[in-house]
Amino acid sequence: MTALIGPDTTDPRSAADRQHRPIASALPQGLVSLLDHEQHAHTLLPEAVWAYFNGGAADETTLRANAQAWQTLELLPRVLRPLAGGHTRVQLLGRTLAHPILVAPMAHQGLAHPHGEHATALAAAALGAGLVVSTQASTRLEDVAHSYLPDADRGPLWFQLYIQPDRGLTCELVQRAEAAGYEALVLTVDAPVQGARDRERRAGFVLPAQVSAANLTSMPVPTQALLQPGQSALFDGLLAHAPTWDDVAWLRSITHLPVLLKGITHPADAVEAVRCGAAGIIASNHGGRTLDTIPATARLLPRVVQVVQGDVPVLVDGGIRRGTDVLKAMALGASAVLVGRPILHGLTNAGATGVAHVIRLLRDELEMAMALTGCRTLADAHLTLA
Ligand code: FNR
Ligand code: LAC
Repeated sequence: MTALIGPDTTDPRSAADRQHRPIASALPQGLVSLLDHEQHAHTLLPEAVWAYFNGGAADETTLRANAQAWQTLELLPRVLRPLAGGHTRVQLLGRTLAHPILVAPMAHQGLAHPHGEHATALAAAALGAGLVVSTQASTRLEDVAHSYLPDADRGPLWFQLYIQPDRGLTCELVQRAEAAGYEALVLTVDAPVQGARDRERRAGFVLPAQVSAANLTSMPVPTQALLQPGQSALFDGLLAHAPTWDDVAWLRSITHLPVLLKGITHPADAVEAVRCGAAGIIASNHGGRTLDTIPATARLLPRVVQVVQGDVPVLVDGGIRRGTDVLKAMALGASAVLVGRPILHGLTNAGATGVAHVIRLLRDELEMAMALTGCRTLADAHLTLA
């Protein structure tokens, strides 16, 4: 007879690691907020992985500012307004979403849980949340799509692209995403190089052998160009092939998918993005992980919205931890929001169940915030800012 219970061969952790931490799939008791999820995840993860997930660049000024700025914005509720028939639906790129919450692209989710991106995809699909899959996912993009697409309640499925030094291989990646059923590309433009991630370096974070960038296995390992005396390893080496605005036009020419630009902070770049045919803009400072001391996205969003003048949707991410934060983002003109680290916390705590719980909490909080501010729909959100 075939053994029904045996070693879980889908668990990529080493045997030693498995002994230390069981695969989390049941929701721990007492988690009622995203902050609760964060604190619980901290107790489960090795310190170096925690530093990779939760840390930011340099002094983490932007990282802190992101969350603080949403908290500092005040709401001024309206009362006795009719609320019956209210809903959280929004329109985005020609389709109706059940709510405006998307999962931000995040690399290496196998670090949080052995089911990694599969679990995130199943949960996001079931909860109607859009999903943006990272170029650096630890699961092949085709496999993530397979977990996400069959759900009738799902939101949009987008692929986050890092343009690779070899444009031919970048093109292959785009073609794979198209073939797998992705509905848009999210070109991340704010990380031509990693930030000075001090917390991560102090903790000695390195990717364990069993977690790798599964989409990039055919990419050649970058070789260091031979530098002349006086040349910069960064500018003359790594950045010699860094993408520019010309690559946005190139990308549009090789794909029929809409291209959104993620990591726009300067209003002038927002204008340029629209001029280059971007289908949408994600106002983002990469969750404070790239350049430190960029203003909080809650402060940047209105400026971007103002110059874009409704030509394309503007989405925002960074520090969104409460339903009230989502409402405030919508009040400032966002078309939708992306949520990053809380998803990893939920994933760490209980796999797909944990991610689903995080999205559910945020959506429930959003509905409560709408009801308590007198917003029947998110079109009313602008009435609620103090
Ligand atoms: C990220 N982010 C990111 N962004 C991106 O475009 N491609 C990527 O591969 C990653 N990888 C990644 C890994 C981890 C561990 C984190 C925490 C973040 C940035 C992400 O998409 C998003 O911009 C921020 O995480 C949003 O901020 P919050 O919600 O985490 O505060
Ligand atoms: C990060 C990269 C992968 O923020 O975007 O870790």
